[in-house]
Amino acid sequence: MEALKRIAPRSFLSVFKDYLSNIYIIIVMSKQVFIFDTTLRDGEQVPGCQLNTAEKIQVAKALEELGVDIIEAGFPISSPGDFQSVVEISKAVSRPVVCALSRAKEEDIDAAGQALKYAKRKRIHTGIGSSDIHIQHKLKTTREKVLEMSAAAVKHARKYVDDVEFYAEDAGRADLEFLARMVETVIAAGATVVNVPDTTGYTLPWQFGERIRYIMNNVPNVDKAMISVHCHNDLGLATANSIAGLHNGARQVEVTINGIGERAGNTSLEEVAMIIKSHPSLEMFTNINTERIYAVSRLVERLMNMPVQPNKAIVGKNAFAHSSGIHQDGFLKHRENYEIIDPKDVGVPSSEIILTARSGRHALRHRLERLGYMFGKDELDEIYKRFLLMADERKQIEDQDLLELIGVKEAANA
Ligand code: KIV
Ligand code: ZN
Repeated sequence: MEALKRIAPRSFLSVFKDYLSNIYIIIVMSKQVFIFDTTLRDGEQVPGCQLNTAEKIQVAKALEELGVDIIEAGFPISSPGDFQSVVEISKAVSRPVVCALSRAKEEDIDAAGQALKYAKRKRIHTGIGSSDIHIQHKLKTTREKVLEMSAAAVKHARKYVDDVEFYAEDAGRADLEFLARMVETVIAAGATVVNVPDTTGYTLPWQFGERIRYIMNNVPNVDKAMISVHCHNDLGLATANSIAGLHNGARQVEVTINGIGERAGNTSLEEVAMIIKSHPSLEMFTNINTERIYAVSRLVERLMNMPVQPNKAIVGKNAFAHSSGIHQDGFLKHRENYEIIDPKDVGVPSSEIILTARSGRHALRHRLERLGYMFGKDELDEIYKRFLLMADERKQIEDQDLLELIGVKEAANA
């Protein structure tokens, strides 16, 4: 009787109530994740990726259309060209906040403040090393001195802008109690956002998540600022670490298009945006217009001369290509058998069936039908045998090869 109760169908009203409460949870509980794009700063500093001002404006406008919330436009003190690019980007975009990077030095902050003069919404991003490795071997100073310099930098930046982000460089390897003191100090000095970067890409996702949780629970004034995560990909964990940070209380994530950036790169925008969109249980949303992702990815690939690896998640050439017979058969029966994202959601026109010697009859028939040729079972079996021989030899079979295989002369000679 107990078992019967458990499997008894639920009334329409009870299913409908659950449905409404799920929608309520998604709308009321969902938190906005702010997307801070640093393609034009952390991405652009990669050897060979340098852009001129006109190209940077093109990328900045594409990022604005994509829906990013903050554009890190450059590091103005680094060169006259970078300074000018921040000036021009500030004039060219209006919705996103334009951000300029500086070290915790007055002359850097002055350059950032001046370069942002025309920005409608502006932010200075200043900071200093927080790990003992950086404090001893790079800055050659003490923890106390670093805290003083941090507070002074934030206060100086506040003379130019109301929105100041502070980065605690190498926070992934910093002593956690000291890191918490640093976060408290800069918030007290006027920082509106505190960036906790895993500069060397060292942490594991649960360790990075715990770092963020520790800050959320142990910094008394943490509610006066937003916590941001900025992860590098040295161990291939940038995206996982960023999601762990968001899951533990960070509200801003720093990303680049195609994951480009220093060394092995930064967290990729497209991965974070699609993880958040694909997993409602995270109870987060972004402003990203995901249908623009593929176009912006291609623009950055072309302008920065930095090819996207074919197996890159979301935007790689093979991200929606199916090549084994088992997968092709399942995909052709029902797309969701082998795809968790509809390619159209990220602006990719369609999935692809790649014909190789690993493909089956179902995929071959599908491609032949797309070319306008239908065959009965016996005829298809015969063509399939010849197809396998050709595929072993040519590796990948294109439409042209298929026409040759079935003896369509004009196309074969074309
Ligand atoms: O990786 C890093 O720590 C940085 C900072 C300048 C934010 O890029
Ligand atoms: Zn970085």
